[in-house]
Amino acid sequence: MDPILSRRSVRKFDLDKKIPYDDLVELCKVAESAPTARKQKSRRYVIIENKELILELSKIYTKSTMRVEECNQMIAIIGINPDNLPCPDFEVIDLSCAAENIMIKATEKGIGSVILGTYPSKDRYIPANKLLDIQNGDFVFAFICLGYPIDKDSFYDSNKFDISLVTHIKE
Ligand SMILES: Cc1cc2nc3c(=O)[nH]c(=O)nc-3n(C[C@H](O)[C@H](O)[C@H](O)COP(=O)(O)O)c2cc1C
Repeated sequence: MDPILSRRSVRKFDLDKKIPYDDLVELCKVAESAPTARKQKSRRYVIIENKELILELSKIYTKSTMRVEECNQMIAIIGINPDNLPCPDFEVIDLSCAAENIMIKATEKGIGSVILGTYPSKDRYIPANKLLDIQNGDFVFAFICLGYPIDKDSFYDSNKFDISLVTHIKE
């Protein structure tokens, strides 16, 4: 199974089965191995396992397909204050690369994941910043909800690719 091709958004988790803390840290480590513009230090992470906090966060994501209250473990990807970065224009790309790394490694480990887009939607990142007490111009970029899938067939290649998407500029 190729973890890149078979990554799918997973939204139903076995809530009796906990992802070990060390695995969550490993997901943060692979996130941080993703590229950043000019090697800038634009990211940090919050591992969330507190159910009360997750319930509060779920109130922000009322339009989300993922019912956030049905998740026990999350990683928040935090963007560093752009004023402190050499390449602020590319920060969201740094953060997006990190998010994808988390979801691919999770898939490889049999862990389901779904990203909750948060920044730059003011309705989402401002209350999320508040709940996580993110200060000094840093911001919540996204949450990755994580858990072991209930459905054994959660990972599959959805064949999104079509060769018509590719333009070939020949030599
Ligand atoms: C920027 C972004 C924001 C997203 N936000 C949400 C969300 O708030 N809730 C949710 O359930 N899924 C969210 N998703 C997941 C998408 O719905 C999902 O990736 C898409 O339907 C394609 O399905 P797949 O991930 O299984 O390929 C988001 C995905 C991206 C890239």
